Amino acid sequence: MCGIVGYLGSAEASPIVLEGLRKLEYRGYDSAGIATISDGGIRMLRAQGKLVNLEQRLKEQPLIGTRAIGHTRWATHGRPSEINAHPHKAGQIVVVHNGIIENYLELKQMLQHKGHNFSSDTDTEIIAHLIEEHFKQGGGFELAVRHALNEVRGAYAIAVLCEAEPDLLIAAKHGSPLVVGRGADEYFVASDIPAMLAHTRQMIFLEDGEMVIFAPQGLRFCDLAGTTLEKEEKTITWSPLMAEKGGYKHFMLKEIYEQPRAIADTIAGRLRENEGDIYLGDLKLNTQQLAGFEKIFIVACGTSWHAALVGKFYLEKLCRIPVEVDIASEFRYRDPIVNAKTLILVISQSGETADTLAALREAHGKGGKVLCICNVVDSSIARESDGVIYTHAGPEIGVASTKAFTTQLVALLLFALRLGRARNSLSADECRQKMQALVTLPRLLESCLELDGAIEKIARELSAARDFLYLGRGNQYPIALEGALKLKEISYIHAEGYPAGEMKHGPIALIDEQLPVVVIVPDNATFDKVVSNMEEVRARGGRVIVVTSGQGCRLETACESLFCLPEADDDLMPILTSIPMQLLAYHVAVYKGTDVDQPRNLAKSVTVE
Ligand code: F6R
Repeated sequence: MCGIVGYLGSAEASPIVLEGLRKLEYRGYDSAGIATISDGGIRMLRAQGKLVNLEQRLKEQPLIGTRAIGHTRWATHGRPSEINAHPHKAGQIVVVHNGIIENYLELKQMLQHKGHNFSSDTDTEIIAHLIEEHFKQGGGFELAVRHALNEVRGAYAIAVLCEAEPDLLIAAKHGSPLVVGRGADEYFVASDIPAMLAHTRQMIFLEDGEMVIFAPQGLRFCDLAGTTLEKEEKTITWSPLMAEKGGYKHFMLKEIYEQPRAIADTIAGRLRENEGDIYLGDLKLNTQQLAGFEKIFIVACGTSWHAALVGKFYLEKLCRIPVEVDIASEFRYRDPIVNAKTLILVISQSGETADTLAALREAHGKGGKVLCICNVVDSSIARESDGVIYTHAGPEIGVASTKAFTTQLVALLLFALRLGRARNSLSADECRQKMQALVTLPRLLESCLELDGAIEKIARELSAARDFLYLGRGNQYPIALEGALKLKEISYIHAEGYPAGEMKHGPIALIDEQLPVVVIVPDNATFDKVVSNMEEVRARGGRVIVVTSGQGCRLETACESLFCLPEADDDLMPILTSIPMQLLAYHVAVYKGTDVDQPRNLAKSVTVE
C-alpha cells in the first residue's frame, strides 16, 4: 500500500501535493518523492524515510511548476531507499504507482533486450520504461499509457507526466484505489479522499480499467481502449478524520474490511500455474536447500504466534516435516536443539519485536537457517533473516492485528506449498488445486464480511459479559486463541481459547448461564466431535455462539446465535473463521466504549524483552 497524489492547476503544485501526501502517510512512510513539470522539463526530488525528510529537501531546493505528482511509499519490491522511492523516470516519462505488477520480471527482461537500463529494484520503474518504449514508437502520450497498461498484469493506480506533452497529467487504475477531485479551475487525483479535502469536496471515483486525462482545459475519462466515459461526480460530506479512516469509525474496522484486498496482494505474482509451484522472490533458498531441512521451528509472539500454530498444520500436512511452535520469549531460554538442518521460521508483522529478534539471533547462533514472514520491508527481522516472505497487508494502524494476521496465514500456506513441492511431498497437480482454492479467498472473505450487521446485533448484549470462552479444534484451535486475544485486547473482557476436546478436563467448571461460549465448528473431519463438545456446554446452560459452515448451518436451533460461513478448502477455513472473531471483538469493544484503535497498555510494536 502506498499513497499517490497529483495536481494540475494554476497554483504552485509541490506544496499542494506535499500536503496531500501528509494525509496519506497512513498508507506508507518509508520514502517519498515529488516530480513537477514546467517548460523547463521534469524536476524530481526524493527522500528516504518519513515525509519530513522530503519536506526539508523541498525547502532547500524548491520545485517549480503548476503540475506535479507525488508518492509516499510502503515498500513491496525493493528495500526502502532513495533509489527505490517514487517517482520513477524513464526518458520523457515520470510515474508514481501504488500496487504490485505481477509480470514485472517478464516485462523487465523484454525491456532490457530493447536497451532499457534500470536504476531501482522496483516493479514501478518497469511501468515508466514501458510507457517510454511505446511513446518512442509515436502516437503520443495518451496512447503510450494505454498500450503500456494493456501489457501489465497486477494491481495499479498510477499518475504519469510526460516531458514532451507538459500540459497533460494522466492517471489510471486497476485494483488499487484512485479518486479524482475537481476544484475551481484545478484538478486533483489521489489514492484517497483526505488528500484533496482541503481543496474540494467534488469527487469522481475511478473504476478498474479506467483512465483520466487532465489538461488545463478540462478532464476526459476513458477506458484502456480509448473509449470516452461519462463519470458521475459526488459531493463528499465526511469530516477530515472520517475521511482518513475511509468513512469507517475506526482504523481497525477499516483494516478488517481491507482483508480481501490485502490477501489478493499477498497472493499476487506468486502462483505459477504452469509449473504447479509457488514463486517467493525473497526466499533465497533453492529447491535443494529447502529439501534438505529435517525439522522446522516456527517462532513468534502474540497474534503472530497464533498464525504459527496454524502454520504447523499446513507444514506437517503438506510437507510431512516435523514442526515445533514456540513463543519467542520462551524459545531462546530453553536451549533449543538447532543445527544446520533446522529451519527456523520467525513470524512478525512489525519485524521489530524484541523477543522475536532475540530468538532469531539465538537460532542463527546455533547454526540454523532463518526465514521470516514479515509485513515491513527492511525491518530488523527482515534484514537479519536469511530469506523473507513479505505479507502485503499494507500499514496496520489499529493496535489489534487483523489484516496482518490473515495475510500471515496466507504467507504460511504459500510457503508450505513451495516447501511441499521442493520435498516432493506434494505433486504439481495437488499444488495447482490449492492455488485454485487460494484465488477464491478474496471473494470468500467478502461474503464473511457480510456477517458484520448480524454480529453487531448480538454484540450489545454480549458486551455485558464478564468472561468468554472460545472453543476450536485442529487448525481452528489457534483461531479460538486469536478470537479470545482480540476480545481481551480491545474490550478488556477476560477471555480464554481452548481446544474444544480439552474443555471437559477443567474449564467446563466455568460454564453457567452467564458465560458466552464461542464454538468454531466448520464442516470438516472433526465436526461431530466439536458438536458433542458444544452439547456439553448447552447441557450446562452456557450461551452458545456458533461459527460454522456447510452442515453446521443447520445447528440454528441448538444455539443462541449462529454465523454461517461459505464452504471452503479446510486449509482456508482458519482465514475465514478469523473474520467473525475480529468483528465480534470489535463490536463488543465499541459497545463498551473502549479505545478500539489504541487500547490501554498496548503498543503496536513491542521492542522491549
Ligand atoms: C495482537 C498483536 C500482538 C502482536 C505481537 C507480535 O493483536 O498484534 O499480539 O502479534 O506483539 O508482534 P509482531 O507480529 O509485530 O512481532
